Amino acid sequence: MNFNKDLIRFPEAIDDDDYIFATYYLETSMDLYEAANAFAAEQSTGTWKRVRDETDALRERHGIKVAGIYPLPGECRQNLPAGTPKSDSCTCIRAAVLRLAFPHINFGPKIPNLLSAVAGNLFEIGAFTAIKLIDLEFPDIFLKYFTGPRFGIKGCRDILKAYDRPIIGAIIKPCVGLSADRLADLAYEGAKGGLDFIKDDELLADTSYNSIKDRVKKVTSSLKRAEEETGEKKMYAFNITDRLDRIKALHDIVVEGGGNCVMINAATTGLEAMRELAEYTQVPIHCHRDFAPMWARSQFLGISFPVLTKLFRLCGADQIHCGAIQGKLYEPDDEVLWNIRACTLDFSSIKDALPVSSGGQWAGKAPVNARKIGHYDFIHLSGAGTYAHPDGPEAGAKSIRQAWDAVIKKIPVEEYAKDKKELTRAIEYFGKIIY
Ligand code: 6PG
Repeated sequence: MNFNKDLIRFPEAIDDDDYIFATYYLETSMDLYEAANAFAAEQSTGTWKRVRDETDALRERHGIKVAGIYPLPGECRQNLPAGTPKSDSCTCIRAAVLRLAFPHINFGPKIPNLLSAVAGNLFEIGAFTAIKLIDLEFPDIFLKYFTGPRFGIKGCRDILKAYDRPIIGAIIKPCVGLSADRLADLAYEGAKGGLDFIKDDELLADTSYNSIKDRVKKVTSSLKRAEEETGEKKMYAFNITDRLDRIKALHDIVVEGGGNCVMINAATTGLEAMRELAEYTQVPIHCHRDFAPMWARSQFLGISFPVLTKLFRLCGADQIHCGAIQGKLYEPDDEVLWNIRACTLDFSSIKDALPVSSGGQWAGKAPVNARKIGHYDFIHLSGAGTYAHPDGPEAGAKSIRQAWDAVIKKIPVEEYAKDKKELTRAIEYFGKIIY
């Protein structure tokens, strides 16, 4: 198939205000200029042959502009079995980074329409053997249509009155199957031990055996007791992921019942659902990222997590799951750090979101989180690290607070643990401290 070649251009100046810049990793057997041309045509004004009404003026206003093509080294990326001799007919696959400028007049400040442009049909083009959206940059004029997080880092810290240390959080485990009464007891035990933040698992929302209404009533009263006993404020994220027409009603049940945080599985529910909730909510939104790794995990296909993190933030997430430092998830620490940075990078008037480091965390991961993240503005969140502690959740929570005390005081955790039985038991049970 011959793509029309005359669309490609390298404009001397692209007016930043009118465009969203999207950066892609691309592999193709096409000539790279032709590939950029095909891409630009397919995602804006054209198709594989120029049509009559695709005038120059229409292209100028609505066509995608190619802001850069950066060929990557390597002669051929064809994945042939080891030892296969290259035949004369071998079609070499080349890789490049493409930077394209999308005129936002084509879609407006609406996430479904934005995604159809920057991450839509292009994944279907047969000639692209690998394609991944690795960055999106937005002009201020576009960002101003989004409210972003209502509370952000400062708002969450102000509710908890916890400053100068990470927010210590836990997910109630087992994830599903507990009654509201039992779950409220477990929330109390963790909160008593020093958790600031407790949450539903992404697998538990409004269920027949443990409804949001019942859970809000029981958990808020058990956490009130923990607050009175510890003198510390507590936050609980109730998972209100549901059908679209139920989300606001569930939010209202949480707020009317005295709850102070809601959680949403943003990728399964949809980004605009979270955005609508963010424009309505009276409490912070905890954004879980399940489902999204399917878009992000492959190096060769999908949308990178930093892009998704930016979109979560744009759509109003106050707290965002960013993967786990030295945890059980697939991302290397560097990628987790990119996600964490996306929560706070300059985004016009959009507030910072509070990053969440979660997945295989326990007391012994406090030092490495501190060293790699380099600041304390995040939630250190554990499930088993709190709820599988051999002496119970109160001891589990205490062990994590003790580990963070050691890190903040710059004392080796093993040394600090000597007269702290909860931390000592955690080390015996969970293993090695990671610095
Ligand atoms: C959540 C998490 C949780 C998941 C994590 C943490 O709902 O916040 O997705 O369900 O299991 O990996 O669990 P662990 O700390 O036990 O690894």
